[in-house]
Amino acid sequence: MNATTHKQHLLNKLYEPYKKCKGCHFKMPLATQIVFGEGNPDTKILFIGEAPGREEDLQGKPFVGRSGKLLTRILESAKAPRETIFITNVVKCRPPNNRRPLPAEIAANKPLLIGQIKIINPQIICTLGSSAFEALIGRPVKITKERGKPFSWNGITVLPTYHPAYILRNPKELETLVRDINTAINLSFK
Ligand code: URA
Repeated sequence: MNATTHKQHLLNKLYEPYKKCKGCHFKMPLATQIVFGEGNPDTKILFIGEAPGREEDLQGKPFVGRSGKLLTRILESAKAPRETIFITNVVKCRPPNNRRPLPAEIAANKPLLIGQIKIINPQIICTLGSSAFEALIGRPVKITKERGKPFSWNGITVLPTYHPAYILRNPKELETLVRDINTAINLSFK
């Protein structure tokens, strides 16, 4: 069994008990399925977003809606297409009206996120938006202040940046997001 197959096998085992989880569905009535994440489990770089939106919920895949299409384009131009890296979210179910996940929801999803990180064992984590960075480091952040600054977390370099959805609302920051993602990818190639 090669490393990719082995890690995928471990991920599948990790996901199995969560497939029956109904906990968040009570509070997340719009969620139709759990979006665990996808990509190459043997990647050196893991991208973490906030939570699935409508399109992600429908397709069962992370970052496939409008902000996902932007992320996909940036990854392709950075020579790290989606199938070569792994993408997941802090919260795996679609919150109502796409609101920010609540602290209790983040806490409920954290063991699954930590399990994914342990199996994938990336060199670099690129967090997209404040929710993802906050979920890892456990304190509120101002993403405009912290983005682009590498942060050491349990021996892994975390590079926080903006969420692509923020760029759709503030296109003048696109260059910054592209630069941060390129920095993260280049660090993972080292
Ligand atoms: N926003 C996220 O944070 N994650 C997705 O998967 C899609 C949009």
